[in-house]
Amino acid sequence: MNQHQTADITQAVINRLADDADPRLKQIITTVVKHAHAAVRELDLKPEEWMAAIQFLTKTGQTCDEKRQEFIILSDTLGISMLVVQLDQARRSQRALADKTATVPATEATVQGPFYWEGAPVLPLGSDIGKGMPGEPTYYSGRVTDTHGRPLAACCVDVWSGDGEGVYDMQMGGDAGMRLRARFHTDAEGRYRFWSIKPTYYPVPDDGPVGEMLRAMGRHPNRPGHIHAMVYKEGYVSVTTHLFPSDSPFLDSDAVFGVRDTLILPFEKHAPGTAPDGRKMDQAWHSAEYDFALAPA
Ligand code: BEZ
Ligand code: FE
Repeated sequence: MNQHQTADITQAVINRLADDADPRLKQIITTVVKHAHAAVRELDLKPEEWMAAIQFLTKTGQTCDEKRQEFIILSDTLGISMLVVQLDQARRSQRALADKTATVPATEATVQGPFYWEGAPVLPLGSDIGKGMPGEPTYYSGRVTDTHGRPLAACCVDVWSGDGEGVYDMQMGGDAGMRLRARFHTDAEGRYRFWSIKPTYYPVPDDGPVGEMLRAMGRHPNRPGHIHAMVYKEGYVSVTTHLFPSDSPFLDSDAVFGVRDTLILPFEKHAPGTAPDGRKMDQAWHSAEYDFALAPA
């Protein structure tokens, strides 16, 4: 088949879209078909290679259940999730980006990952969500403001992390239920505070097809330690992000490309004694202070 005939196939698929199909769908299909066909041509893709790709995607689907989302892990490890997050934040924050009087940059977003669990308990400020879990106790505190530095009261800070060994509640055996996750509401000065553990690095689930793909590419599956936070209040652009301890391994080779310099912070280590909230600590503990800023919607 010559170049002209193969080019016809691409146009034929695009022409087959109905005139009255949804315009955005038409745009997406047209672009995806053009790029996918161009890749097949550029690679001179062999039938057995295309079949291997189909088998890989089939296995990816078969690995999904209500607690495991292999397609998210695939999207994350190929950098697509992070690209979509960055484009989305830029699009939704255009007003704040154009506002020359803004004094505080909006907190950078990063990937949500597959371990978000909607409906975490709403707990009083200062609660300990890491009690009884492996890991070094850490006192988290800070403020939520707008991009002019004005405090945002009654703002929801929804946090989740793995334990001190990098294991999320969803990965714990049996019916562990929700652990190491909660929602907090900021006080009148926009402040939040809670206790949890210092998060450690961990591998993205790598016992499925995405793990095989990473090994074939010669890549490690690890993410640097992080605690997730989704911060939202009506009238503001919500942000889904992480906080990374600055001494974590893998900060410069995150398996999902989610690290941003502005999200790396020191987790200060303290000897046993009295914590800022008056809690008596009989073991060493850490403190992590971070201020979030939300752009107007
Ligand atoms: C996470 O941070 O929880 C995560 C993100 C992407 C893939 C797997 C886990
Ligand atoms: Fe995570």
